[in-house]
Amino acid sequence: MRASIKEAISGLSSPLKEEMEKIVSSPVFDATISPEDFTSLSLVTGLSDADLRVALLPVAAAYSIAPISKFYVGAIARGTSGRLYFGANMEFEGVQLSQSVHAEQSAISHAWIKGETAITDMTINYSPCGHCRQFMNELNGADKLEVQLPERDAMLLHQYLPEPFGPADLGIEAPLLAPVNHGMTAHEDDALIQAAMAATNRSHAPYSKNISGVAIRDKAGNIFSGMYAENAAFNPSLPPLQVAMVAMNLAEVRHEDIQDVVLVEKANAVISHLQDTQAVLEALNPDIPLAYLAV
Ligand code: THU
Ligand code: ZN
Repeated sequence: MRASIKEAISGLSSPLKEEMEKIVSSPVFDATISPEDFTSLSLVTGLSDADLRVALLPVAAAYSIAPISKFYVGAIARGTSGRLYFGANMEFEGVQLSQSVHAEQSAISHAWIKGETAITDMTINYSPCGHCRQFMNELNGADKLEVQLPERDAMLLHQYLPEPFGPADLGIEAPLLAPVNHGMTAHEDDALIQAAMAATNRSHAPYSKNISGVAIRDKAGNIFSGMYAENAAFNPSLPPLQVAMVAMNLAEVRHEDIQDVVLVEKANAVISHLQDTQAVLEALNPDIPLAYLAV
């Protein structure tokens, strides 16, 4: 386990510390907390639902990779299944700051990758920036989404984002995380290409229509895939490489362990992810091979 996660857990107060030590030492721990574990943590600690989520934030923030700001943001998204998904910010040296992933985006895309179709509440250790408020406004269930910060009452997203601009302003009804299958197929019999294609089929790109997915294979042969999450305000969109990197980071696989990457996107679309994907990968390690499939 990453040292920062061990440290975060050792800094929790008892008995949450001992209970979390058990949970994270399980071989199936995947930076999520099941609804059953959450209920039992609440019973053992006597903490309310909100206080327990806030108490867990240091564990989420321990996944942060922030070499530029050294500012460690943690977020916890709860899916409609009741499962909690950790997320943390990720920064990339050598490329534009706009390639960064915010903790909220990390937690939400983590829940999305693992099959959630809506988010009921978000718990964050700092007030969400304007860009994250806009990103969350794209979500399935955004009008009911609760945001919980430490030492504050829960508030609705729309109290943080009054008079929102959103998908409806552009005539779009499909929200981010709603189940979708774009039905594209790849003929190549390669697991990495198939994973990137499966991600492409779940992508949310109603504005550019450039559905897209990335799959990363690590040196041990594990595959992490990510789908493109577009936003009505365009700039807060989360590229597919970033979503795949979220999956990899939360599985505690380091950037140094990337073996190869596949990017799938639409051929002749109005935008392309190719140059940004190449730029970020090159900044991580110029030797990472990137295969590109425009379908
Ligand atoms: N950050 C977040 O993760 N969420 C927010 O809403 C505020 C800012 C991150 C982005 C960057 O990695 C660092 O904090 C400094 O802005
Ligand atoms: Zn933000």
